[in-house]
Amino acid sequence: MPDTLISKRKSEHLRIVSDDDVTHHGTTLLEDVKLLHQALPELDVEELDVSVKFFGKTLSLPFMITSMTGGAEYAEQLNRGLARVAENMGIAFAVGSQRVMLRHPEVTPQFAVRKEIPTGVLLGNIGAVQLIEVPVDTVAGLAESIDADGMCVHLNPAQELVQLEGSRRFQGLLDGIARLLDRMDGKILVKETGAGLSPQTLERLKTIGAPVVDVAGAGGTSWTKVESHRPTNGPLQRSAEVFADWGVPTAVSVYAARGIFDENACIIASGGMLTGLDAARAIVLGADIAGYARVILKEFMEHGYTGTVQFVETLAHELKMAMLLTGSSNLRALKKAPIVLGQGLRDYLDSFARTSGENT
Ligand SMILES: Cc1cc2nc3c(=O)[nH]c(=O)nc-3n(C[C@H](O)[C@H](O)[C@H](O)COP(=O)(O)O)c2cc1C
Repeated sequence: MPDTLISKRKSEHLRIVSDDDVTHHGTTLLEDVKLLHQALPELDVEELDVSVKFFGKTLSLPFMITSMTGGAEYAEQLNRGLARVAENMGIAFAVGSQRVMLRHPEVTPQFAVRKEIPTGVLLGNIGAVQLIEVPVDTVAGLAESIDADGMCVHLNPAQELVQLEGSRRFQGLLDGIARLLDRMDGKILVKETGAGLSPQTLERLKTIGAPVVDVAGAGGTSWTKVESHRPTNGPLQRSAEVFADWGVPTAVSVYAARGIFDENACIIASGGMLTGLDAARAIVLGADIAGYARVILKEFMEHGYTGTVQFVETLAHELKMAMLLTGSSNLRALKKAPIVLGQGLRDYLDSFARTSGENT
């Protein structure tokens, strides 16, 4: 497919994501994580420690703006603006897919935003399917060309299968990720894009020693649903609608990830994260960092840089409220806060306990 089509498709995606109904009907199931209110917390808000280590640096808040492509016209503005928000707030930022740079290195300035985020964590992004098409040195070069701290590799098989131009080849992806991991000295993050990571997939990622996983679970932006709004997908528009609510809810993926990976691995909870309370619930389940995509994009498009900074400040306040009201002085303490799990989440966890987890 000519790369001009990639750019057109990305602009179309951006319009659909901002104007149409693109979220799962199902929820993240984070509402099934009920924190117990402590009316005598013995803590002061200013003393709460919400810092966390990530890619060798320290974030002021356990938040990340996850990868979003902006299409040809908007990519640079989006990447620069969000990188500035991230630097200002001490949170991490990942650019959208750099695939277009493989054929058009002249678009590198749209992604090269290190000047906007001189001290913070900046990550590149590529699809895992590209790892079976191009050498790992080339992919590592994409990260190097924007002076990124590491590379996100996204998995999106459901979306690919409902795009007319999407990939149909998914054999060898784990191998490709393992080679990139080796080439980049472990500085990679493996993510979904809104359909979540099952216990089986997480186990496979563990076998190659993936150090950072972003579950990007179901409950927020659904990429099958996004594709159902694109007439250019022809007959696949119907299949996209059929699979609109496909995926593993975010809370389920996070819980599974923490049970599978040891404490050295970093787990990012994303997919449908809307509030700082969502972040707190995910952290209690075992996440280290909460990732936000569409909600940040909307804020940026509607209220610009200043509005987005204010929004992140609000998220921070909500996280701190949850910490104070559970008597948690830092994120380690929050992970141990008492919780009650609702039935929807427990149904998943009970089923996992009953199945062996093998399907191949
Ligand atoms: C406009 C837009 C573009 C996106 N582009 C990418 C991308 O290029 N690479 C990627 O890994 N994920 C991409 N994503 C997926 C997000 O990183 C995230 O995993 C997903 O949207 C779920 O999070 P949310 O519910 O907070 O939106 C994109 C999301 C949006 C909204």
